[in-house]
Amino acid sequence: MTRYLFIFILFLKRYLLFSHFSLLLVVFFILSISCFGWANVKAPTYVGSLACKDCHPIEYENFISYAKKSHSFGSIERLQKGLNQQEIEQCYCCHTTGYGKPGGFVSLETTPHLKNAGCEVCHGPASEHIVKEDAASIKRELTKEDCVECHISERVTAFRYKPLIHGGAH
Ligand code: HEC
Ligand code: HEC
Ligand code: HEC
Ligand code: HEC
Repeated sequence: MTRYLFIFILFLKRYLLFSHFSLLLVVFFILSISCFGWANVKAPTYVGSLACKDCHPIEYENFISYAKKSHSFGSIERLQKGLNQQEIEQCYCCHTTGYGKPGGFVSLETTPHLKNAGCEVCHGPASEHIVKEDAASIKRELTKEDCVECHISERVTAFRYKPLIHGGAH
């Protein structure tokens, strides 16, 4: 009888040990999945307009030649005399790319490639797109909401929406 009990306890111990082990495995598995997942869902960051040139030469040339955005940092520099640093930084949210957002413009010294309002102020941060190279990884359809962040509402509604949405681009 004690012999059977002993075997039973041994079995129980084994089972418990095993279940602990498998629990550990499950936890480890879930952790590794979520870590992997985290790395993948990391939000895209800004790369600057020059990074689009090779694959979209026509849009790039049109933008650089005709859109005022492509030299919008110059507008700040033109007017900065008499402004203090804090006042100048208030221009950045509209006149640069991604200021105050993850991976966006910080300063002329650290992020010179984002100093003007570039392609990504409309199409969104493109670090993922330049790697995946497909239509799904970038925003194409734009609405008024994509403009009013900078073109504050009274400026935008002063125009008819349709012509404006294609203006200032390429
Ligand atoms: C290495 C090449 C490459 C680079 C760099 C690149 N793209 Fe693209 N882009 C593509 C390809 C490929 C497509 C898909 C074209 C198609 O499906 O017709 C595309 C499509 C697009 C589209 C259209 C999406 C749609 O729904 O049709 C936009 C907008 C776009 N890119 C913007 C950009 C911007 C902005 C940049 C720079 C920040 C950029 N791309 C950099 C290759 C690139
Ligand atoms: C991040 C801010 C920002 C966003 C978002 C933005 N713009 Fe602009 N846009 C500017 C700035 C800044 C200028 C003026 C540049 C300058 O002259 O220094 C400008 C200029 C323009 C102009 C003047 C004409 C020209 O040659 O450039 C048009 C038109 C325009 N934007 C349309 C749009 C439309 C349409 C959208 C939305 C799809 C949009 N913008 C989104 C900041 C922005
Ligand atoms: C809320 C967004 C926003 C802020 C903040 C902002 N701007 Fe602008 N700025 C614009 C837009 C949009 C235009 C384009 C005007 C238009 O066509 O409606 C523009 C146009 C200009 C122009 C005219 C360029 C031209 O060729 O006519 C100058 C100069 C300028 N801004 C300088 C500045 C300075 C300097 C600051 C900071 C003190 C500043 N802006 C802050 C959005 C902004
Ligand atoms: C002012 C906002 C704005 C800016 C800045 C802008 N685009 Fe666009 N882009 C648009 C709009 C609007 C469309 C047209 C979407 C549609 O009609 O389907 C578009 C379409 C595109 C397309 C798809 C092909 C086409 O022509 O319809 C590509 C590629 C593209 N843009 C690349 C760029 C690149 C590269 C830059 C910078 C050099 C840039 N865009 C800057 C607004 C912008």
